[in-house]
Amino acid sequence: MGIEIIGIGSYLPEKILTNAELEKMVDTTDEWITTRTGIKERRIAKDTEATSDLAIHAAKRAIKKANISPEEIDAIIVATITPDMFFPSTACFVQKGLGAKNAAVFDIAAACSGFIYGTAIAKDMLKNGTYKTVLVIGAETLSRITDWQDRNTCVLLGDGAGAVILKKTDSDSDILSSYLGADGNAGDLLYIPGGGSRNPATHKTVDDRLHYMKMEGNKLFKIAVRAMADSAKKAIELAGITCDDVRLIIPHQANIRIVEAVGKQLGVPMEKVFLNIQKYGNTSAATTPIALEEAIYEGKVKKGDIVVLVAFGGGLTWGAAAIKL
Ligand code: UT7
Repeated sequence: MGIEIIGIGSYLPEKILTNAELEKMVDTTDEWITTRTGIKERRIAKDTEATSDLAIHAAKRAIKKANISPEEIDAIIVATITPDMFFPSTACFVQKGLGAKNAAVFDIAAACSGFIYGTAIAKDMLKNGTYKTVLVIGAETLSRITDWQDRNTCVLLGDGAGAVILKKTDSDSDILSSYLGADGNAGDLLYIPGGGSRNPATHKTVDDRLHYMKMEGNKLFKIAVRAMADSAKKAIELAGITCDDVRLIIPHQANIRIVEAVGKQLGVPMEKVFLNIQKYGNTSAATTPIALEEAIYEGKVKKGDIVVLVAFGGGLTWGAAAIKL
């Protein structure tokens, strides 16, 4: 018995924000953004769209592909750092939107690594036998926590959602391994200082723009390369396979230079590393499921292939999963 992705779906908001438009908003250039990050454009949710709305769109597509009814889902895990509200959890809004009335639901906050954390949790829930069908979603409206006056961060981020339905089946498919890690000591390299219980929202926290994401990109860069390369290697080792067995590495898309450096450290050519950063930028927890869906849709991977999902983000957190599709 293995765990199979019986349905996958993603949703990207229609509105495209190009580098040329960003040139009019902050002191930046298309040339800087393209050469330093690989990003050309990103998607921005409508004012009326919250994270759960994006998640519901992606989940509905996954449910349709899986050909199941929402009542069959017995757990929903939403990975997000941009929840609709402090509470109820975003997963509660998703449950309501899908009519998945038999599901236990919760959110996890592991930033860009959230989807990898979510699939690791889902894997154990399924292997234990208590749950049969688990929906895991990575969904973000990062545009809501972006300081559109800060060129260090605003050129990097975008909105989107990706969802998978995982089920125990008697096929060959399986989540072969999951590896997770974290370092809370470096949490101040990427965080939102205001609005939580440490610095509750006041006029001053808002005036000081403390409810927006702060990032020390340069310091994160080196840690990201090491953590992602190490995580991918560990997941491959735990799965009892080698890099040669892997059809495609699907890395978190924070910066094309990080992705290239990770590929180099793993000793795999760029043809074996999936890239879509040019279209969507960094969509945090939504990045890896969106990329997996695209890789399948574009025919880069098919049933029976092994992929390695790997991510790194705020917390700091990191992780990887080797999945036989
Ligand atoms: O999602 C997971 C967590 N996030 C990451 O892993 C992000 C990791 N970091 C990065 O991707 C890169 O560090 C960045 C893309 C954020 C920045 O690239 P960089 O090559 O590390 O640039 P830098 O921070 O060293 O800045 C170089 C210069 C600076 O100017 P000075 O001090 O050399 O005059 C910045 O002020 O580039 C300047 N700069 C910009 N210039 C034009 C920073 N942002 C911009 C911008 N447009 N948008």
